Amino acid sequence: MLPAILECRACVLRPWRADDLPALLRHADDRDVARNLRDRFPHPYTAADGEGWLAHVAGDPPREGAWAVDVGGEAVGGIALHRGDDVARLSAEIGYWLGRAHWGRGVMTEVVGRVTDAALAEPDLVRLHAPVFAWNAASMRVLERNGYVREGVMRRAGVKDGVVMDQVLYARTRESPHPYVAAP
Ligand SMILES: CC(C)(COP(=O)(O)OP(=O)(O)OC[C@H]1O[C@@H](n2cnc3c(N)ncnc32)[C@H](O)[C@@H]1OP(=O)(O)O)[C@@H](O)C(=O)NCCC(=O)NCCS
Repeated sequence: MLPAILECRACVLRPWRADDLPALLRHADDRDVARNLRDRFPHPYTAADGEGWLAHVAGDPPREGAWAVDVGGEAVGGIALHRGDDVARLSAEIGYWLGRAHWGRGVMTEVVGRVTDAALAEPDLVRLHAPVFAWNAASMRVLERNGYVREGVMRRAGVKDGVVMDQVLYARTRESPHPYVAAP
């Protein structure tokens, strides 16, 4: 079970709440955020988009593995793990974003570090990965500073705003033997 709350120096990672909607709309409705994320994080980011996201994560109990980045009581970004299935069930994709007002202060470097450490302490997770759009040097830096390894370039693997682009695959793994016994 992943922790619901993780403390950072500059923020707290905590479950999303229904009353985060105004803050979510303030920070998420930004083309320079959305252009680095999957299309399910749209631009413009409407009230319906925010309500849809909060309906997905802010239930009772809140969704495990999705945290709001809370600075001074305000949700200013998010980070989430998306677990794989089938043979990839011990892996998860890590995705994150931060409102532009908070960029460049080391917030996401620390946040990614906290979530990575918590995730790789789980017995059923041995790998975290992030496919990064080729132009997103800041995100690559965040990952590298947290021990993620650049595994390769997935050529022409994505299309964003009508532009076909490469994605750079980063991953960090837990190398100690995991507790699973071999399948029969
Ligand atoms: C990418 C993002 C999460 C970074 O968050 P942040 O809190 O500003 O990141 P940090 O301040 O912790 O670290 C950014 C690092 O990138 C570096 N950086 C920033 N812009 C850069 C650029 N254009 N080229 C190279 N490095 C850059 C910074 O210098 C810093 O490195 P340093 O600590 O070694 O100096 C944030 O900009 C964001 O949310 N962007 C939009 C969504 C997104 O890209 N999500 C990730 C998808 S894979």
